[in-house]
Formats: sequence, structure tokens, C-alpha cells
Amino acid sequence: MNRAVWLYLGVLITVIASFVGLVQIPDRQLRGLQPVKDDLGVERPLRPDGGVLAGRAEYIGLGCLYCHSQQVRPEGFGADLARGWGVRRTVARDYIWDVPPVMGTMRTGPDLANIGARQPSNAWHLLHLYRPRLTSPGSTMPEHPFLFAWQRVELQRPTDALSFPEGEPRPGWVVVPTQRARDLVAYLGSLDHSYAVPEVR
Ligand code: HEC
Repeated sequence: MNRAVWLYLGVLITVIASFVGLVQIPDRQLRGLQPVKDDLGVERPLRPDGGVLAGRAEYIGLGCLYCHSQQVRPEGFGADLARGWGVRRTVARDYIWDVPPVMGTMRTGPDLANIGARQPSNAWHLLHLYRPRLTSPGSTMPEHPFLFAWQRVELQRPTDALSFPEGEPRPGWVVVPTQRARDLVAYLGSLDHSYAVPEVR
């Protein structure tokens, strides 16, 4: 009987200690995090606007996060910085508007925490989304043609029509991005954590 009491107490203490250590202390440390001002006085991370939020929902819905992470590991924990995936490690502050965070766990493709800084061209992103092998030979990333529409060229070519490196596949027709594709690319363009933060010197 006596032993049962000790066992019960042991379990109780373990549960309480885990709750305090894993939930309460981290919450207290991270809850009050605020944006920082960059050199131009702009608050970073930028608060996402409507298009970026819609693109983020596409990113989640299309399962991009199953192949891409958004977290740059610190020096000594892998080659992320050497690969050019960021100029510094990511910190908790980078995710204050990212609720729930889409950090990802798998790295079938490159980390995207700074893709907006690394690849600022919207035209590149659209072509890559349509058919990744057009920009990245041998890519295993899935194609997303359903985010685009074929359109007959009437008088003028739409400015955001894809320009295929090997010429137009169907003369008289162009491929234009739908709003979903534009939102997704706006989201990718917003992924830029290259501003300085006090946590990383
Ligand atoms: C099955 C895994 C897989 C999925 C799902 C996937 N990707 Fe990729 N992605 C890759 C691979 C592999 C690469 C590297 C080759 C390339 O550039 O295409 C890549 C490359 C990229 C790049 C270029 C990164 C760089 O550093 O040049 C971007 C941007 C990107 N993916 C965005 C997306 C988006 C947005 C989605 C969701 C619509 C997505 N990916 C879904 C595997 C995936």
C-alpha cells in the first residue's frame, strides 16, 4: 500500500514537472515576442496581408510543407547556412505571424525560409510551379498545371503569361496563372528572414 502512494506521487511529480518545463516556461519566454525594426524602420517580420495569407493557405492545402521546411539550422547543426538557405539561423521571433507555424519536418526539396530573398523572380516561380523540370532539370517536385489556365491570345499577350524556354507549346494560346497561383507566389515572395534580430549576432 505504502509503495502505491510513492508510485502515485512519482507519477504526479513527473507530470507536473513536464508541464512546467515543456509548456509553462517556454510560453512565458516566447509569449511576449514583438517584431523588430530594420534599418529602414520597417517592422519585421512583415505582417502578412490578404494575398499572402491566401497563398499560405494554398501552401498548406497543396501539401508543399510535406517536402519543404522553413527553418534554418544554426551553425554546427548542419550545412543550412553553407547551402545559402539563409544569412542567419531562424529564431522564434520569425514565426510570430505564422500561426500555426509551417516549419515542416521533411526536406525532399530545399528549405524555403528565405526563398523570397533567394529567388525574387515571380516569373521563375510561376514557370517552376507549372512544370518544375522547365527551370530545374531532373526535379522530382510535382507539377501544378491545375493552378494555371490556357487562354487564346486575342490582341495582346497577357503580361503574366508564362514564357516557355523552348517556345510556345500551342501557337495562338498562352498559359496564364490563376489567382491561386498568384497568391501562392506572393506568399513565396514574402518568405524572407534576412533582417537582423537581437537573438543572433
Ligand atoms: C514531393 C515533394 C515536393 C512537393 C510536394 C513540393 N516540392 Fe517544391 N521542390 C521539391 C524538390 C525536390 C525541389 C528541388 C528541385 C527543384 O528546384 O524543382 C523543389 C524546389 C522548390 C522550390 C525552389 C527552391 C530553390 O531553392 O530553388 C520552390 C520555390 C518550391 N519547391 C516550392 C514548392 C511549393 C510552393 C510547393 C507546393 C505547391 C512545393 N514546392 C511542393 C519537392 C517538392
